[in-house]
Amino acid sequence: MSVITSIEDLRVLAEKRVPRMFYQYADSGSWTEGTYRANEADLARIRLRQRVAVNLEQRSTRTRLLGQPAGMPVAIAPTGLTGMQHADGEILAARAARDFGIPFTLSTMSICSIEDVAEGTGGHPFWFQVYVMRDRGFVERLIARARAGNVSALVLTLDLPISGQRHKDLKNGLSAPPRMTLANLANIAGKPRWWWRMLHTRRRTLGNIVGHIEGLGDNALLSEWCARQFDPTLNWDDVRWIRGLWDGKLVLKGIQDVEDARMAASTGADALIVSNHGGRQLDGAPSSIVALPRIADAVGQRMEVHMDGGIRSGQDVLKALALGARGTYIGRSMLYGLGAMGQAGVTRALEIIHKELDLTMAFCGRTRIEDIDRGVLFDDSDAVPAAPLALAA
Ligand code: GLV
Repeated sequence: MSVITSIEDLRVLAEKRVPRMFYQYADSGSWTEGTYRANEADLARIRLRQRVAVNLEQRSTRTRLLGQPAGMPVAIAPTGLTGMQHADGEILAARAARDFGIPFTLSTMSICSIEDVAEGTGGHPFWFQVYVMRDRGFVERLIARARAGNVSALVLTLDLPISGQRHKDLKNGLSAPPRMTLANLANIAGKPRWWWRMLHTRRRTLGNIVGHIEGLGDNALLSEWCARQFDPTLNWDDVRWIRGLWDGKLVLKGIQDVEDARMAASTGADALIVSNHGGRQLDGAPSSIVALPRIADAVGQRMEVHMDGGIRSGQDVLKALALGARGTYIGRSMLYGLGAMGQAGVTRALEIIHKELDLTMAFCGRTRIEDIDRGVLFDDSDAVPAAPLALAA
């Protein structure tokens, strides 16, 4: 294997090592995948402003997220079925985040449970993402389990009361554990590292759910339960209900609109995440980086504004900070590392992003995270028109 120097290297390796069904679950968006692609493409378009002759010796990427110290303004995003990219994936990613000094967020739809991650990380605090399900008793129990598991922030997802259509998942017949059809068997047979480790763990289905709902255990029933349980009646009263149940830090995830951001601020939540769910819900919605500045301007003084979607480098982190984010999340960048090399791959992803952020700050003449503002962006509003335009005239 050649030396891994970028998140793209990890992605290529993950694609080789992870069964198609799970690799494509991560690397996909809804319908045309236009919003999914725009998340990365709009970040790539932003130009940076180089400064020189600034003393760069004392630099730091350290910051605080939700009042907690963090080694850089990056947290691990909640991603479903993480333990299917690599056996025990949530525990491994949580350990990598703990050792790096950044927050890890566990998804409700994880393979390893809250209790598994609490035990697997030696009781180190982590963040937990929750959905409003029709079975409110289940949500209450989940929140009580989070409290007992040393969860230090609750992330409530608001943009998935119904699920976006992802063509690849339908075509692949996505399920956890995978159904043993001939096509799946043939694909999995070619991923020996993956299945060998999977055979040696007992965690192969949705760990927060199976065993916590009476009569639910069988895989077919489980997918039916999930499809029925996401609650389309979700509204701001539910957010206030969750606020009442949880007196710790509360983060509202999935905000794209300024009016929704103002509603979010009025609920007493501590932070919001500007997010289009990685381009997996409303295809045609703007990229997160395009939605971010207006929201940061509207509510950034009242709550922390975080952002996810398309973060594949430290440069992307810096651009998000410049446009008003206090913190960012990596979902796919983490999953690619995990699928490629387990815990070492997640650590590698964090090292890559950290180094890129550190160097990019330096080139832009900034030494502290608090000093990153729109001044690090190149203003090209008076730039000479590009050649193709001039020729067309
Ligand atoms: C779940 O959050 C998903 O996007 O699949």
